Amino acid sequence: MNILLTGGAGYIGSHTIIELYKAGHSVVVVDNLSNSSAVSLKRVAEIIGVDGIPFYKVDVLDREALNKVFDENRFDAVIHFAGLKAVGESVAKPLEYYHNNMTGTFVLLDVMRKHGCKNIIFSSSATVYGDPAVIPITEECPKGHCTNPYGQTKSMLEEVLMDVQKADNEWNVVLLRYFNPIGAHPCGRIGENPNGIPNNLMPYITQTAVGKRQELGVFGNDYDTPDGTGVRDYIHVCDLASGHVAALQAIAKKCGVAVYNLGTGNGSSVLEVVNAFMKVNGVKVPYSIKPRRPGDIATCYCNPAKAEKELGWKAKYNLEDMCRDSWNWQSQNPNGYEE
Ligand code: NAD
Ligand code: UFG
Repeated sequence: MNILLTGGAGYIGSHTIIELYKAGHSVVVVDNLSNSSAVSLKRVAEIIGVDGIPFYKVDVLDREALNKVFDENRFDAVIHFAGLKAVGESVAKPLEYYHNNMTGTFVLLDVMRKHGCKNIIFSSSATVYGDPAVIPITEECPKGHCTNPYGQTKSMLEEVLMDVQKADNEWNVVLLRYFNPIGAHPCGRIGENPNGIPNNLMPYITQTAVGKRQELGVFGNDYDTPDGTGVRDYIHVCDLASGHVAALQAIAKKCGVAVYNLGTGNGSSVLEVVNAFMKVNGVKVPYSIKPRRPGDIATCYCNPAKAEKELGWKAKYNLEDMCRDSWNWQSQNPNGYEE
């Protein structure tokens, strides 16, 4: 298939390009580079062994430019990664988040429809479950209350996409609910490249280990979990990437709407992650216990059986692999893509 990746220069998108190529698909990337660098695409091309990745520096809000991309290419499906994703920033800048994520998707869907491309895979998130009613979380689990505008955009866009499919059954919509992606391509050339102070656990750990941060704050040790720290379903970004290749099967089978959890099914606590990281990599990560972070939940991990049963997809990497590959990327690229 020929696939358009919006936001394809970002963390998950760049890894997904590699998996799509490996499976014999071709890609075109659209990204406004608001949270990424074109260097990632250069490195992806090196990893794959091609001259370059077809790329348009285009904002999905720019209808005219997006139309041109669709005029110049024929796409079998779109994987829609483009979006702003920092939870805390979304609380401070709700309008920016709603505009970029919601309106950006509306424009994309309209342009897709005009060009007769009605297949989309959407980057959703475990955040749509809110404080989950059931653990491990299956796709049947009711959606919950999102505590921030970022999460609201994911939850609302799921509804929008389902409504679009309901109104016109030529559409096929796959909602992929990601759990916590960490790790990097094992070669260490591409990885997560957060702007400023990281919000997420793994980039904070790697930046502490490399000496850019003094110590990690562990947000709360009084949760109802085995060691009191928050439990999450960390998934290697390469596994997550291959989940998108698998999801194309649902599109090929004309799934209508399909929803899949992409996680490992294993929950790890903050302290388990920190300890695994120090052990695997032989580096120190100083940390201290801090108050709980507002909006955090105690435990979040999934039952990934549906994706295995229907798509034949299952995560292959374990927590040690994720810690090793995260460090491999950070230690070789202490400043991310800034060379
Ligand atoms: P990322 O920021 O690395 O990638 C997103 C990309 O989208 C960036 O390259 C950015 O420049 C681009 N972008 C943003 N707004 C755009 C616009 N208006 N037009 C064109 N490009 C635009 O983030 P990621 O971690 O790779 O996440 C990819 C998707 O997965 C996002 O939608 C994110 O919300 C979702 N997601 C991520 C996580 C996570 O923990 N990383 C978890 C669940 C869901
Ligand atoms: N944590 C710390 N210290 C830090 C950062 C995080 O102790 O410096 C803890 C958190 O309290 C939580 C765990 O590490 O218990 C994981 O936190 P992350 O911020 O890495 O991930 P979250 O589960 O909070 O959020 C992630 C994504 C969101 C997404 C959500 C659900 O960042 O975009 O998963 O999919 F919405």
